[in-house]
Amino acid sequence: FKILVLNGPNLNMLGKREPQIYGAQTLTDIIEQLSSKARGMDISLSHVQSNAEHGLIDAIHQGFGEIDFIIINPAAFTHTSVALRDALLSVAIPFIEVHLSNVHARESFRQHSYFSDVAIGVICGLGAKGYEYALDAAHQHLKVKNN
Ligand code: DQA
Repeated sequence: FKILVLNGPNLNMLGKREPQIYGAQTLTDIIEQLSSKARGMDISLSHVQSNAEHGLIDAIHQGFGEIDFIIINPAAFTHTSVALRDALLSVAIPFIEVHLSNVHARESFRQHSYFSDVAIGVICGLGAKGYEYALDAAHQHLKVKNN
């Protein structure tokens, strides 16, 4: 299976950025751990981080017909981006939405997501482990679908 991991704006700053909320691990650490887990599951993992909406949208379009599943942390675009939502719908690739922090325990503007109602599932508040749980769930979803 081919899985694309997408990370939105400011997630390149993980480790430095509000560590009390987002943890001490860098994005490189998180993606390395996730990649080694994926190798053991026979999944080919690719990763794109972008601070720009178009960078994420282009990566999604390039996945059309190529990628089986997307794990996405849209970061602040979660709460703003109809364009990113439409991009995911346009390629019809199933996806899981991940947030490091528990967005429901934070500011009210973080409590609406443009993605959750069209996602296979949503994981939030479990830190970097959330990406690993998403990988397990994506794997399970693809195995069932391809049976
Ligand atoms: C985030 C939560 C968002 O509200 C925020 O804008 C982020 C990160 C998270 O992973 O907890 O940048 O998606």
